[in-house]
Amino acid sequence: MARVIAITNQKGGVGKTTTAVNLGASLAASEQHTLVIDCDPQGNTTSALGFPKDPARRTLYQALMLDEPIERIILDAQVEGLDLIPSDKNLVGAAVELVNLENREYRLKALVAGIQARYNYVLIDCPPSLDLLTLNALAASDSVLVPIQCEYLALEGVSELLDTLMRLRRTINPSLAIEGILLTMYDDRTTLSKQVAADLRSFFGAQVFETVIPRNVRLAEAPSHGMPVMFYDIHSKGAESYIQLAKEVIANAQKRVGQGIERADSGAGAGSSGTSASAAAAGAGSVGSASTSDDGGGNGGSSGSGTV
Ligand SMILES: Nc1ncnc2c1ncn2[C@@H]1O[C@H](COP(=O)(O)OP(=O)(O)OP(=O)(O)O)[C@@H](O)[C@H]1O
Ligand SMILES: [Mg+2]
Repeated sequence: MARVIAITNQKGGVGKTTTAVNLGASLAASEQHTLVIDCDPQGNTTSALGFPKDPARRTLYQALMLDEPIERIILDAQVEGLDLIPSDKNLVGAAVELVNLENREYRLKALVAGIQARYNYVLIDCPPSLDLLTLNALAASDSVLVPIQCEYLALEGVSELLDTLMRLRRTINPSLAIEGILLTMYDDRTTLSKQVAADLRSFFGAQVFETVIPRNVRLAEAPSHGMPVMFYDIHSKGAESYIQLAKEVIANAQKRVGQGIERADSGAGAGSSGTSASAAAAGAGSVGSASTSDDGGGNGGSSGSGTV
């Protein structure tokens, strides 16, 4: 049963899509059958995986809003073991039209539940907003992966974001865990990058992935060639870093299994079981499967430990 990971940050341009595409390809290259869902009307993941704009193409919109069979929508992403549910600008309509629908936050969850058994990982690329599309993504997910650009005020942004996630845990998805905070666009020549990385690590401890994504021009170029960076320039630092990240994600999953804290409910049905998954904070190195009890305020302030 796939682990479903939402790649999310309300802030734009922090590396969500770059991570969805390249982590997806790297997981697939590690023999993990992976589905990437482009949940952003910008459709950047879709084009970065080699599908230029095509008004005739069916997208997540048809699956989400018109209940079209998902088989007609899933694309083979030309990377062995990697599938894609594409998006395009019509998905903007979904964010609006969903408002009047029953179970409006859980439509993507129902859709994912039907195909989860076929994959090892499902990655959902979220738009840079907290609209109904993002809420659907967060309701459908086991965990969130939060890319953070190493820049001024990053710490403030991530604290706010984790506060929001805590609130969502009380409402739409009680078992939503933190897969990890990912430092992106890291530039080891700048003091600022180093300082921001050090601050984030001292504040969020083991919740920050050990892997850091460097600022790398190959990562920025690859999308215009419609391919993940590992097929564009396998020797680039960008490709290496995402391969490393995939290893870390897989290792963390193995640790969770080893510690017996893998999802108890298989993540499928709506409303997940009361004794939620991820009942314990994951141990060292892993990214705290969020604990069930979010003690009160539950802001990201408890530094260092495995929980939010
Ligand atoms: N590590 C990196 N090194 C260099 N360029 C990068 C890196 N990561 C992302 N970029 C570039 O930065 C820009 C923003 O990245 P990306 O599209 O992944 O962010 P995003 O969070 O998905 O943005 P949005 O919020 O608009 O969806 C893109 O042009 C991308 O190619
Ligand atoms: Mg994006």
